[in-house]
Amino acid sequence: MILLVNGPNLNLLGEREPAVYGETTLPDIEKMVEEACAAYGQPVKAIQSNYEGALIDFLQENRHAAKGVIVNPGALSHTSYALHDCLKALPCPAVEVHISNVHAREEWRRQDLVAPATVGQVVGLGPTGYYFAAVWLCGRLAEQPAEAAEGEPIEVPATDLQPVVGGDYEG
Ligand code: DQA
Repeated sequence: MILLVNGPNLNLLGEREPAVYGETTLPDIEKMVEEACAAYGQPVKAIQSNYEGALIDFLQENRHAAKGVIVNPGALSHTSYALHDCLKALPCPAVEVHISNVHAREEWRRQDLVAPATVGQVVGLGPTGYYFAAVWLCGRLAEQPAEAAEGEPIEVPATDLQPVVGGDYEG
């Protein structure tokens, strides 16, 4: 199972600053990720919350079933040591997604407290970043021994997407 975690204000995608975030809605993104993961036999459990603690509770509660996490923490990326620590505590890798290029915006968005707890980031590629994160996580799982994968062996779409620089996660 892949966890899809979206933080504050991402429920407003589609109407929120469309010049920055586009017109794709969060349900559109959740459907795209579900379809991408389904091709690898991986179910998706999604949450969006405007509350830091709710995101942390969700990650903790699902930590044993999760094989990977796709997380867009929103502005919590720039403020939350607690989310960093939670991701570090998980037994599976997390990929961070930002729809916008946070490095090309306000200076304060360039600080990312969550990033060191992730295996990598997809930044500035729009909603498609979630798709890339899903394919990378699922492709990585499919390469692991059969007993580590859920369900029956399936045909795996080819991917050569790899992180350029790895995080602390050693899996
Ligand atoms: C964001 C970037 C953050 O700086 C911002 O606070 C968001 C969205 C993105 O996806 O580009 O809420 O995470």
